[in-house]
Amino acid sequence: MIQRTKLYGVAVSLVLVLMFIMFPGFKSPANVTGNQSSSIDKKVDQILSKMTLEEKVGQMTQITLAVISKGSVMNPSMPQEIDPSKLQEAVLKYHVGSIINVVNHAYTREHWYQLQEQIQSVAAESKLKIPILYGIDAIHGVNYTLGATLFPQEIGMAATWNPTLMEKNAAITAYETRASAIPWVFSPVLGLGRQPAWPRFYETLGEDVYLAETMGSAIIKGYEGDDIASKYKVAACMKHYLGYSFPLTGKDRTPALIPEEYLREYFLPPFAAAVKAGAHTLMINSSIVNGIPVHANHHFLTDILRNELHFKGIAVSDWADIKNLYETYHYASSEKEAVKMAVMAGVDMSMVPYDFSFEKYLIELVKEGQVPMWRINQAVKRILRVKLELGLFDHPYYPEKDYPDFASSVSQKENLLSAEESVTLLKNQDNVLPLPEKNVKVLVTGFGANSMEALNGGWSYTWQGTQTDQFDKDKNTILKAIQEKIGKDNVQYSEGTLYNKPLDDQQTLAMAKQADYIVLCLGEMAYAETPGNIDDLYLPDNQAKFAEELAKTGKPVILVLTEGRPRLISKFADQMRGIVMAYLPGNQGGNAIANILFGDVNPSGKLPMTYPRYPNSLETYDYSYAELNQHDYNPQFPFGFGLSYTSFAYSNLKISNDTISGNQKLTISVDVKNTGKREGKEVVQLYIGDLYASIIPPVKRLRGFDKIDLQAGESKTVKFIIDKQDLSFINSKLQRVTEPGEFKITIAHLTKNFFVK
Ligand code: BGC
Repeated sequence: MIQRTKLYGVAVSLVLVLMFIMFPGFKSPANVTGNQSSSIDKKVDQILSKMTLEEKVGQMTQITLAVISKGSVMNPSMPQEIDPSKLQEAVLKYHVGSIINVVNHAYTREHWYQLQEQIQSVAAESKLKIPILYGIDAIHGVNYTLGATLFPQEIGMAATWNPTLMEKNAAITAYETRASAIPWVFSPVLGLGRQPAWPRFYETLGEDVYLAETMGSAIIKGYEGDDIASKYKVAACMKHYLGYSFPLTGKDRTPALIPEEYLREYFLPPFAAAVKAGAHTLMINSSIVNGIPVHANHHFLTDILRNELHFKGIAVSDWADIKNLYETYHYASSEKEAVKMAVMAGVDMSMVPYDFSFEKYLIELVKEGQVPMWRINQAVKRILRVKLELGLFDHPYYPEKDYPDFASSVSQKENLLSAEESVTLLKNQDNVLPLPEKNVKVLVTGFGANSMEALNGGWSYTWQGTQTDQFDKDKNTILKAIQEKIGKDNVQYSEGTLYNKPLDDQQTLAMAKQADYIVLCLGEMAYAETPGNIDDLYLPDNQAKFAEELAKTGKPVILVLTEGRPRLISKFADQMRGIVMAYLPGNQGGNAIANILFGDVNPSGKLPMTYPRYPNSLETYDYSYAELNQHDYNPQFPFGFGLSYTSFAYSNLKISNDTISGNQKLTISVDVKNTGKREGKEVVQLYIGDLYASIIPPVKRLRGFDKIDLQAGESKTVKFIIDKQDLSFINSKLQRVTEPGEFKITIAHLTKNFFVK
C-alpha cells in the first residue's frame, strides 16, 4: 500500500487517542459502529420474525416510480403525480421494499418531498411500518433534482487524478441527494474503461485498476462517510458487478469474454476496494461474461462477492435483468426459472421494475420448495439492515429546511475546480495557448459551442440528457463563458456543423477569415446506455471535414472536445494547433474551458485512458512485451498524458534498497521542479513493471500517483513507499502472488531496477 494512506491512518489514531484524553465521554467511530451493529442485528431479527413470506418477498421487490404514478406504466401522465390507489396497492398489498427514479425528467426539491411524504406515509400505515428504500441514478451529482450541482462525469473526475476533490464532490452529491429526500444513489460505476466504443465509457474512472480503486474508494467515502444514518450521507451502490465494461463488440449489454485471471487482475479490484471502503449496496452487471449472464452467476455473486470479498450489503439486479435471463438472453426457459436462478445465484432485490411478477414467481418457488426459506431470509436481512443503517425507520427523510447549502456557492466553486482540474491539454503547438484576453477576435464554432447538452452528456435531467438546454438556461456554455471573458464584441459565433450532419459552412469560413483564433467545439451529443452504441469510433466525417476546412484558412484552430469516449481524431489532429480534451465537464464546464483557453487556470488534467489513433489499435497502456515486439504503443495520446502551461523537470530517482524481501518496504523518491514561469499542478506517476512472470507481465503498471502543486521555480521530493503486495498479480491458479525477480520503476523519463527475493 502507498504509505500516505498509512500515515493518514496513524494520524487518525493519534487524534482519537487525544480525543479520549481530552473528552472522556468521546466514543470512537469504531465503537459506535460495533454497538450499533449488534443492536441493528437484533432489530433485523425482530422484524424478520414478524414477517410473512409475502412481506419478505415484497421487500425484495423494486419498482419504478411510473408503477405508482397516474397514467399507464409505459406512458404515465405528465406532470408526474402519484396515484394513491396504485401506491397503496404496491406498498400495502405487494409490500414492495424499494422504489426508484423519475418519470421522464428531473423534479424540484419540493416535488421530491411531496413524493416521499406520500410514499413513506403509506409505508407507515403498513403492519410492520418498514420504510421504502428510494433509490436514484445520481451519476454526476443528483442529476434528477432541478438546480443540483452537476459535476464532470466520472471519466472527467478520473482525469483530475485528485481523490480529495473526488471525495468532496461525492459528499456534496450525498448532501444534495438527502436534500431531495432520497437516501440511496446508484453510483459509482467501478467497471474499467478499457473498451472505448462502449457507450457507458464516460461513466467509468478510466482504464487503470489503481486509479479506479483510488478514485472509486474516494467516491464511496464521500457518499457514505462513517455513518450512513447521517442526514448528509447516502448509501452508495457499486456498479455493475462484474465485467460489464468490456464487451467484445463495444455495444452495450453484449457478451464479454474475460478469463478469470484477468477478471481478478483488472475488473474485480475496484469492487474489492469499494467493499473495503464500506459500500453498502451493489448493482449487478446486466450483461453476459464468458457465456453466463451475471444475474445467474453463483460463482460471481456468491463465491467471490460474499465468500471472498465478504460483502454484507444488498445485491440489486439491474433493470428488468431477471426477466432478461428468459426474454432476452434465452438462458432460462421461463420467467419463473429466471427468478429461481437469480435468487439462488445471489440476487437480493429485483429491479423488476414494471410489475409484481417477481413476487408471484418467488412465492410459488418457495412454496414448492425450489427456493429455500433461508435464502429469502438472507436477502431480506440484508435489505432490512441497510434500511436500519440508513436510519430510515426514524427518519425516512429529513426536513427540507435542514439543507440550506443545497447547490450553494461553495458547491459551485468545487464544481468549477473539478471541471478545471479535469480538462486535459493534449496539444499546444507553438504555445498557441493560452490565448490573449485583450485585442483579440475569436470565432467560436461547432455544435458543442453553445450547448449545455454537450457539456453534461447523458444522465442529466433526463436519462438521455437531451433536454439539458431547457433546464440549464442560466448556465454558461463555452460560447457564453468566452463572451463573458473577452467581451461579446470580440467573439463571433456560428454553429458550423451538427454532430453528424454538415451545415452550410461557407458562412463560418468567411467568419473564420476575420478571426485571430478559432475555437472549434466538436465531439459528441448526449446519450446513455444502448442508444449511445456506435459502429465507428471515428468522429463523424462531417466533423473531420469541417475541422480541415477551418484549418485551411490558415487561422490557428483550437479543438475543444466534449465527448464521453475517445472518438478518433487522427484524420485531422495534425492540422489542429491546440487540442483540449474536456470529457463531459458538467455545468461549470463552459467556465472551466474558457479559464483554461485564456490562461486564468493552468491545465493539470491527465488522460485516465489511452486515446487511440486507429480503430483497430485499441491498446491500453499496460500492454505486454508481445505487443511491444509487434509495434510500438502508438496511440494518439497515451494514458497519463496532459500538458501544462509550465514545465516540470524530474531528477534524482532514488530507491531505498536494491532488493526487498519478506515484509520489507521500498521507498522510492524523485525530485520534481517547476522549471517554467507560472504555478502549476503535476501528477507524479509511479509505474512498475515485472520483467519476467508466470503470466506474461505488462510492460508497466501504475502503482502510485501524487498530485502536487508547485510555484514557479519550486521543487519537491515526492516519495512512494511500496511493499511486495503492491507488485502482486493473479497467477494461473487464481492466486495473488508476487514472484521473485527483477522489477523496473519508471517515473517520467527516469527508470531504476530492483529485485524482489
Ligand atoms: C442501468 C443502471 C441504472 C438503472 C436504473 C439501468 O438501465 O444499467 O446503471 O442504475 O438502469 O435506472
